[in-house]
Amino acid sequence: MNVLILGSGGREHAFAWKLAQSPLLTKLYVAPGNAGTAQLAENVDLSITDFDAIDQFCLINEVEMIVVGPEVPLVKGVADYFKNSEISVIGPEKEGAMLEGSKDFSKQFMQRHNIPTAQFQTFTSENVEAGLSYLETQTAPFVLKADGLAAGKGVIIAPNLEEAKFALNEMLVDEKFGEASSQVVIEEFMHGIEVSVFVLTDGENYITLPSAKDYKRIGEGDSGLNTGGMGAVSPVPFADAEFMKKVETQVIQPTISGLQADMIDYVGFIYIGLMNVEGEPKVVEYNARLGDPETEVVLPLLKNDLLELFQLTAQGKLNEAKVEFDSRTATTIMLVSGGYPEAYEKGKEISGLENDSEDVLVFHAGTKLENGKILTNGGRVISVTGFGDNKDEALAKAYKKADEIQFEGKNFRNDIGFDL
Ligand code: AMP
Ligand code: GLY
Repeated sequence: MNVLILGSGGREHAFAWKLAQSPLLTKLYVAPGNAGTAQLAENVDLSITDFDAIDQFCLINEVEMIVVGPEVPLVKGVADYFKNSEISVIGPEKEGAMLEGSKDFSKQFMQRHNIPTAQFQTFTSENVEAGLSYLETQTAPFVLKADGLAAGKGVIIAPNLEEAKFALNEMLVDEKFGEASSQVVIEEFMHGIEVSVFVLTDGENYITLPSAKDYKRIGEGDSGLNTGGMGAVSPVPFADAEFMKKVETQVIQPTISGLQADMIDYVGFIYIGLMNVEGEPKVVEYNARLGDPETEVVLPLLKNDLLELFQLTAQGKLNEAKVEFDSRTATTIMLVSGGYPEAYEKGKEISGLENDSEDVLVFHAGTKLENGKILTNGGRVISVTGFGDNKDEALAKAYKKADEIQFEGKNFRNDIGFDL
C-alpha cells in the first residue's frame, strides 16, 4: 500500500519511521516533510490544506491512505473531502475535529456526556459585561481560553481579577486572537499535575497508547514562554494502573460513546490532555491528533505494525488488534534554535546526527536538506529520544546524544522529567 503523511515535524518523522518498518508498505510519501523524512520516504512539495492538489497527487501515485499529522487540515475538512473516495484518511472529519477546533464545543461535549472537566461558561462580544460579572463570582487564578485554534497561544491564566478582566476585554473586544477569540471560555482553575493519554479509534473500537507528559515552557522549572513542546516522557509514573482504569471508564469510554451518541463518525487519534487532581482525572483539553513531541516517545514504545493498525482503523475492525508495548521508558529532548519561541535564525548546519545506538532515535523537526547538508529550518529542530529501564536511564541516553548534535545557537532544556 502507498501512504501519504501530511506534516513536517518530529511527529511526522516518527510516523514515517514507524510506517517504514511495515511489510504492508509499498511506497511512503511525506508532504512537505523534512530532512529526516527524506531518508525514509519521498518528500512531496504539496500544501497540506490544498485538498485538490493532494487528491491529484494521490490519484497519480496510487496512494490509498493519508495519515494526517497536524490539526489544521483536519479542522479544514481533509477527511470530509476524501469521505466518498477510495482513499482512507487517518484523522477525523471536521465535526470530530471540533473537539480541538472549538473549546466551547469540546466543553459542551464533555458536559453533555458527564466527562469530568473544569466548570465553565462561554462569552462573546455581545455579552462582555456578563463575562466581566461572571469573573467576579470566580476565584483566582482565572483561566480564559480563545474558542478557536490559536497555535497553542489562546489560553491565558490570569493571577488576579484585574488581569482577568483586562484579558477578557482584550480577547473579545480587541480581538487579540482574531476570529479565534470571538468566543471565550472562562473556566475553573484545576490544581494538579498534567498527563496526556492518546487513543486511536475507528469510531466504535479503540486502543489506548502509553501515557505521556510534555514540557511546554522554554525555561527550566517550567518557566518562560510557551513553546510547541521542549521534551516528553512516556509512560508517566503516576499514571499507574489504578489511575488509567479511572481514565478509561470516566473519560475514554464516555468520549467514544459520546461521539457515537452525537452521530460523529470519528476515525483517528484523540489526544486527551488530563489533570490529575488528587488522583482523579479531569479533562483539560482534547486534540484531534497525536501530540508533538509526545509522538516521539509514544510511537517508539508500540510494538505492533502501525500500518496494520491503521488498516484495521480504516476498516472499523480495531477490535481485532492486539496491541503490545515495550516495557521500557522513553524520553525525548527537543533541540531548538537560539531565540525560539521568539525570533530565531534558520539555515545553520547541523552535525553529529549519525546514530548507531539501539537505545537512541533521532527525529528531525525543523530541518531541510540543501546541497547535501542538513540545515536548521524551524524553531524546534531535532527531537532526541532515548530508552531505558526507568526515566533516568532513558534521559541519560537522550542527553548524551543531545550533546553530540551541534548547530549554532542550539538550546534545550536540561530538566525534562524533573517533576516525575
Ligand atoms: P489547553 O490549550 O486547553 O490545553 O491549555 C493550555 C495549558 O493551560 C494546559 O496545558 C494547562 O497547563 C493550562 N490549563 C488549561 N486549562 C486549565 C485549567 N482549567 N486549570 C489549570 N490549568 C489549565
Ligand atoms: N505537545 C502538545 C501538542 O502537540 O499540542
